[in-house]
Amino acid sequence: MHFLISFALAYLIGSVPFGYVVGKVFFHKDLLQLGSGSIGTTNTLRNLGWTAGISVLCLDVLKGVFGASMAMLWGPIPTNMPWLYFAVGIGAILGHTYSVWIGFKGGKAVATSVGVLLVYNLQMAGLAFSAFGIALFLTSMVSVGSMVGFITVTIASFVTHDWYLFVVALALTIFVIYRHRTNIKRIINRNENLIPFGLVYWL
Ligand code: G3P
Repeated sequence: MHFLISFALAYLIGSVPFGYVVGKVFFHKDLLQLGSGSIGTTNTLRNLGWTAGISVLCLDVLKGVFGASMAMLWGPIPTNMPWLYFAVGIGAILGHTYSVWIGFKGGKAVATSVGVLLVYNLQMAGLAFSAFGIALFLTSMVSVGSMVGFITVTIASFVTHDWYLFVVALALTIFVIYRHRTNIKRIINRNENLIPFGLVYWL
C-alpha cells in the first residue's frame, strides 16, 4: 500500500505539464499544437525561446527528483533495495509522458528520467549528460543527444554490473526510442528539426 501511494504521488508530480502551462500562461501558445507537439524542453525552446526552454528543463528534471524521492516518504530506503527509487520514479516519468491533465499527452521521458537518475546515481547522471552534450554538439539534434544519453547509461550500467540500473536503463532506452519514433523517421529522411546550437547548425 505504501508503495502504491508513493507511486501515485510520483505520477501526480510528473504529470504537472510545465511546458504546456508556460506556453499557455506566458505566451498564449499551445505547445501540443506546435512543432513536434511535445511539451518537453526542446519543443518549448524551439517555439518559446531559450529562457522558457531552460526553465522547463529545470522544472521537468525536478519532477523526476521529487518523484523518485517519494520512495523515501515512509523512511530511509534500505541499502539492499535501491531499485525502489526507480520503481517509484517510473511513476513520475509516466506522469510526464502521459499527463492526466492534458489528455494523456506529454513529453518524451528524457528530462524527468534524468531527474530520477540524479537521485539514484549522480555520476551516471553526469555521464548521461556528457554523452548527450557531445552528441548534441555534433548533430544539433536534441533527439539524437537524448537517445545517445540513454544508450550510454545502459552500456555503462552493464559494464559496471549495476544490474538494477541496467534493467531500468534498457527498458527506458526502448521506451525513449519508441517516443522518438517520429524523430527517427525525420533523421532518416534528413529533415529532423535542429536547435540553434552545435556543428550541424553552425556549419
Ligand atoms: O527530449 C525530447 C527531445 O529529445 C526531442 O524533442 O521536440 O524535437 O521531438 P522534439
